[in-house]
Amino acid sequence: MKQIRPQFELSTTAVSQGRRFAGSGPRPIVDAIYTSVNFDLDDDDYRDIQETGGERSWYYSRNRNPTVESVEEKIAALEGAESAVLFSSGMAAITTTLLSLVPPGGTLVAAEELYGETSAFLRQQFSDFGRTVRFVAVDDLAEWKRQLADSPSLIFVESLSNPMLRLANLTALASLAHDVGAKAVVDATFTPPPMLKPLEHGFDVVLHSATKYLNGHSDVTAGVASGKKETIDLVRQSSVVFGSTLLPQGAALLDRGLKTLVIRTERACLNAEIIADYLESKSGVEAVTHPTIGSYADRDLADELGLKGAAIVTFCVSGGDDRASRLIADLSVIHEASSLGSVESLACLPSRTSHSAVSEGQRQQLGILPGTIRLSVGIEDSSDLLEDLEAALQITS
Ligand SMILES: Cc1ncc(COP(=O)(O)O)c(C=O)c1O
Repeated sequence: MKQIRPQFELSTTAVSQGRRFAGSGPRPIVDAIYTSVNFDLDDDDYRDIQETGGERSWYYSRNRNPTVESVEEKIAALEGAESAVLFSSGMAAITTTLLSLVPPGGTLVAAEELYGETSAFLRQQFSDFGRTVRFVAVDDLAEWKRQLADSPSLIFVESLSNPMLRLANLTALASLAHDVGAKAVVDATFTPPPMLKPLEHGFDVVLHSATKYLNGHSDVTAGVASGKKETIDLVRQSSVVFGSTLLPQGAALLDRGLKTLVIRTERACLNAEIIADYLESKSGVEAVTHPTIGSYADRDLADELGLKGAAIVTFCVSGGDDRASRLIADLSVIHEASSLGSVESLACLPSRTSHSAVSEGQRQQLGILPGTIRLSVGIEDSSDLLEDLEAALQITS
């Protein structure tokens, strides 16, 4: 702790006394949170700002912040990436990355099966920025090949689609993209690193809504993009200009969540497997979607990509959306909420949340039949979750 000279006036002392400097004083096990927006500058900093734009110096937190940066390094290491950049939300990560990597006049080919807000951004705003987008069903490789014939800049998919858990053939899609000189970007929010490592399958950039599994405690919104340093540097430059950077306090919360990512997701995937098994045996449950269920559409692909489970179970009850709504309202351990990836189990009706803006016909095409419930399985004891579901299924039967 730096002692300031005693002759300073009280107001100066009130502002400046007690500043901590790295390397002196206590050596905490948990990183200090650097909330400071500004950093004292010296000649080396000015030289660096002039020569590299400030790559090595701390001077302003929208550009670089030690707390944010240490979490970026952790996530890059988890993804097997050279570099990562954090954002204030998953949507900030998606919009900034896509606008950075598709130049004005360029084209993006995206999967049809996308998170509602991503889809809305691409369908309603992307062209306002002078970019074009075309959509392809994620599993139609022949159509991807056709749509890539005019060498677009980028392809974009979600690793596991919401809510029907269709798995993207990452290896094949990355190879098709690279054949025409396009980069491949994946939103892997549903499959954090313990479940899948998209960069190992040839993808160039992996994005997450870190609000979900990476944080895991429903108490911070954040997003992240990871990949080669050269690519992430481009995305970072846009992020600094757009001002979509993450607060250090948010980064510190995310860091605390990341410490338990592996055990949280292992437990949640195991719970999900138990629940999927149970639901499959229940009368009144018409369909269950989970990678461990025999009828799972992408089973072979899941083995090929080494998918290590999923903590979402999507199921359809007889009686349509009316019964599904009553059922989730009757749950007491499982919350009725629209997000996912947290320690608490959360259930919602896609037709009333993520896919409410989609017509019933389109929902049917995506496999979201009336009565479909998406359950994001948490880390509670599986016996309590089963009892909760059993009671709600009985009351509403
Ligand atoms: C797959 C997916 N991507 C992106 C987002 C957006 O993330 P955020 O809410 O952190 O902006 C979500 C949010 O639910 C999501 O499910």
